[in-house]
Amino acid sequence: MKTITIISFLVALSFKGYAQELLINVDNRTTKSLNGQWDIIIDPLENGYYNFHLKEHAEGTKKAFFSDGRPSDKSELLEYSFDTGEKLHVPGDWNSQKEKLLFYEGTVWYRRKFNYKLPENKRLFIYFGAVNYEAIVYLNGKKIGEHTGGFTPFNFEISDVVKQGENSLVVKVDNKRKKDAIPTTMLDWWNYGGINRRVLLIEEEQTFIRDYHVQLAKDSFNEIRGWIQLDGEARQQSVTLNIAEADVHKTVNTNSDGYAKFAMKANLDLWSPENPKLYPVKISSATDTIRDEIGFRSIQVTGTQILLNGSPIYLRGICLHEEAPTREGRAYSHEDAQILLNWAKELNCNYVRLAHYPHNEYMTRLADRMGLLVWSEIPVYWALQWDKPEVFNNASRQLKDMISRDKNKASIIIWSLANETPESDARNTFLHSLAKQARLQDPTRLISAALLHGKAEGVIRVDDPIGEFLDVLGCNEYTGWYGDMDPELFNVKWETKYRKPMIMSELGAGALQGFHADPDTRWSEEFQSNVYKHQFPMLDSISFLSGISPWILKDFRSARRPLPVFQDYYNRKGLISEYGEKKDAFFLLQEYYNKKQREKDIRLWQLKEFISPGYQGLKIIGSPKIVEGPFGAAVYFDGENDAYFLDENPVQGLDEFTIEMLFKPETGGDREQRVLHIGSVGGDRLLLETRLTGEGNWYMDSYIKSRDAHCVLKSSDYLHPLDQWYHMALVVEKGTIKNYVNGKLELEGKVEDLKPIYGGRTSVGVRQNKVFWFKGTIASFKITPKALKGDELNRI
Ligand code: GCU
Repeated sequence: MKTITIISFLVALSFKGYAQELLINVDNRTTKSLNGQWDIIIDPLENGYYNFHLKEHAEGTKKAFFSDGRPSDKSELLEYSFDTGEKLHVPGDWNSQKEKLLFYEGTVWYRRKFNYKLPENKRLFIYFGAVNYEAIVYLNGKKIGEHTGGFTPFNFEISDVVKQGENSLVVKVDNKRKKDAIPTTMLDWWNYGGINRRVLLIEEEQTFIRDYHVQLAKDSFNEIRGWIQLDGEARQQSVTLNIAEADVHKTVNTNSDGYAKFAMKANLDLWSPENPKLYPVKISSATDTIRDEIGFRSIQVTGTQILLNGSPIYLRGICLHEEAPTREGRAYSHEDAQILLNWAKELNCNYVRLAHYPHNEYMTRLADRMGLLVWSEIPVYWALQWDKPEVFNNASRQLKDMISRDKNKASIIIWSLANETPESDARNTFLHSLAKQARLQDPTRLISAALLHGKAEGVIRVDDPIGEFLDVLGCNEYTGWYGDMDPELFNVKWETKYRKPMIMSELGAGALQGFHADPDTRWSEEFQSNVYKHQFPMLDSISFLSGISPWILKDFRSARRPLPVFQDYYNRKGLISEYGEKKDAFFLLQEYYNKKQREKDIRLWQLKEFISPGYQGLKIIGSPKIVEGPFGAAVYFDGENDAYFLDENPVQGLDEFTIEMLFKPETGGDREQRVLHIGSVGGDRLLLETRLTGEGNWYMDSYIKSRDAHCVLKSSDYLHPLDQWYHMALVVEKGTIKNYVNGKLELEGKVEDLKPIYGGRTSVGVRQNKVFWFKGTIASFKITPKALKGDELNRI
């Protein structure tokens, strides 16, 4: 099959009668909800759409269910009626609302009457959060449009069709599975049919702000970059972006397509799980204003690490399906999202994988507010028909809409293109094109996919060819569940040919909540726990692992799981039962994450001064670059502009402490450079400096100056070649100050009456008076509130 070009993707978009360009941020638009009880007709034969010779009913045909007809008199034959039929709640799937529809896959017609008075100079749109799987929408008997795909929003303009007064909205919904659909016929979740998410009428100005992208530029911590798209006649306007709290006020002029780009610097409090800071944002044009709440964070990869705001992060995650937490069926409300994400927080997660399709917008908005990082995915799941262009167009449309709806959500860090898809040339081309499309549409986030792994000679390899064009490898592994639960199986090496971070996107085991037995008895909670206990050390041993998301938060319905008693059409790998009861393994994972967090906190203490710009009060000077160091992320200072300031003195009040740095001073810097300054200028402070000889060597000097005592250690006599890594330790205790390079004591001195260094701040790589900048790389910086000894003083 010829390489799928973005062109074919663009062609796909312009398909006539298909859903129009998405209106984003519907929460902040003028809307009228059409949620509630809708009248329905269950139509397995699609009798309301085709005549008995399978010819589609034409518009105006009274027999057609979309005509919402009524007998005009007592003798007229009409064999359907919405007025006297059954009802279903919208939003909501039909399978869990009616026992008889639990396994139903086919067509159901929905009808909703609504009254509307559209003011003269306004436009009206009908918006669906999601309909599974195929939707054909009619208003007052006229076909408005259609949409395919069960998990992405779509809207149609109805300004010219809506009647002043009562309107009849009819939607034909069909969830029949098809081989060339996405997902295809085989899937391990329930094929919930219906209008599964909210339905809104959206009233807009003649020319309004339909779409915008406001995020940090790729690899930046302080440059906001984005665009605004107007929709309507008056496309050329001046539009203003206001982020008052960040003192951002930018006006741009849209072009003849109603489009304008912008970029500006801003001093931002960056969003992170610890600090889910959202800024109120206002975008206003001459004819329209829209508000939003947006967080700003940077997400990058370097080597095998994922960096959030420049700091390595370990993703403590969990997978979840979009199933309601306390009742049967699809989740669709803010309350559902709150309970599900509260459970994730209770596990001490900082990350969730929303599987295997985009979840409703309440989930991603709440993740923004709660500080949960998100992996969002399109249902390119298992074996699709890769060589069919219409299948690719469907996938690329779902990808476009997923990104479009949530591109301003700080919580979303990863777009996932696929799950457990079988390798083939056609599949590789298919996914490669999707990766290119995703990067084109949103260059700021990471691209991934959940891959399968290979195993040879006791080594598990993640070498899937599509790994090449992913930023992060996802891998699903079920050691101990699919196959034997043999502890030896966990004693395995993990390798990949890619120098990239990996997330174990699935792992786990099944258990029937409340069934207890010995750990070898399958389906018991003890068996599930035992698998987790063996997983943790294996996961800890994988050097390129940046996080995990065990399968899965809650037991969920699946037609693949008919085993009586233990499954009953539920996938039992949840850590919580379908009734909300926690299994033992829930607490095991919670404990593991608490340990991981503790480790992270220690690491953060190590790096916080300068590697985590998201740290409160840290100011970046210039643009220190995140580079690869001996132990992962490191920071390069260019010796002219780069430094970090931290409004904090980490040795405040300590009368003994050890400062360790792993650094590589570089040729070409100033003769006198300041690596570290702690304390207040002119007041109590501790300084560490490197001096260059000009012959390619450096030597150290440092001193402590406090109100009541002064100790200059003069310069060490030991010369060291530049451009090499050094471990430097400065130890202060009981009136002495010692400096070690690679564990060798180089400088020592007595500090009379040393008083703790009070107040001040910390700066790395700078000298306050803007000279003597540090040129080189710092890989780690650690302060230990005690005087270290022996081997601890040399960690090169
Ligand atoms: C797969 C798949 C899931 C499935 C799970 C399981 O890896 O991605 O959708 O539910 O394994 O087998 O339970």
